[in-house]
Amino acid sequence: MALKKMGDLKCDGTERLTFGYVKGILQSTNTCDIWDHIWNFQAKPDDILICTYPKAGTTWTQEIVDLIQNEGDVEKTQRAPTHVRFPFIEWVIPSIGCGLEQANAMPSPRILKTHLPIHLLPPSFIEKNCKIIYVARNPKDNMVSYYHFQRMNKALPAPGTWEEYFENFLTGKVCWGSWYDHVRGWWEAKDQHRMLYLFYEDLKTNPKREIQKLGEFIGKRLDDKVLDTIVHHSSFDVMKQNPMANYSSVPIEFMNHSVSPFMRKGAVGDWKNHFTVAQNERFDEDYKEKMANTSLSFHFRFE
Ligand code: A3P
Repeated sequence: MALKKMGDLKCDGTERLTFGYVKGILQSTNTCDIWDHIWNFQAKPDDILICTYPKAGTTWTQEIVDLIQNEGDVEKTQRAPTHVRFPFIEWVIPSIGCGLEQANAMPSPRILKTHLPIHLLPPSFIEKNCKIIYVARNPKDNMVSYYHFQRMNKALPAPGTWEEYFENFLTGKVCWGSWYDHVRGWWEAKDQHRMLYLFYEDLKTNPKREIQKLGEFIGKRLDDKVLDTIVHHSSFDVMKQNPMANYSSVPIEFMNHSVSPFMRKGAVGDWKNHFTVAQNERFDEDYKEKMANTSLSFHFRFE
């Protein structure tokens, strides 16, 4: 099967995309249509894969990893916008890009992005022993961030009301499936692969320490001055003003920042401004059940 041409894909630029399922996981119809190609993607041994559940801090991590690779040289990291610098392997957005095509055209070393749950990861990433960076975020903030992102992004389904969205998130009826299965699946796999598992909340609390960890994992020695430069240029306030990191270059037909900006709050604990007391109780009960028997735990607020 040949890769479809951009013009054949579904989206007229004003309507939302259409959606289907890949092995039970909600995806755009465009992704479903080229799933065989995605599954057979050929990774290279020096690829670095950044893997997250949507809205867990992907863009932030991409910026940090690029700054590390370029030893804090900001001019180099401003060569292109996020969605061009880091091919998103399962993503197809008509008139914007096809992650597979971008990855195949990119010289090594490549930094790639995916939101796929571990059971849908193209096998060649493991066969080639690629370095994988996984970032997880507490599910309450993750849910709030995802809700607002679906409001502003026509490449995702309309979120419905907050109450409807709350139920859909808990039951995994969102693109890329259940948050619980995602974070647990990757957590359980982390010791069997070349993988670094990080948390959004740790990046917020101590960015320098987490950036240092990333540098060591990638194999770059970073002196203190470079580390400080990276902390500064990957901070929320600086990234929000950086057109190469804030998604402002994506056409407004897809991402409408006046509905909700991509760089929205960048905070830990914003869920408290959204969850009702009843929702919080229901969430906690459900969380206890779904996260039983795992050593994985999260911070839900700044303590
Ligand atoms: P909010 O919607 O809570 O503000 P992703 O890149 O995975 O789509 O995640 C986007 C979320 O990460 C958004 O969260 C965004 O504001 C936040 N984010 C992006 N860059 C950040 C940074 N430098 N520091 C903290 N949060 C950041």
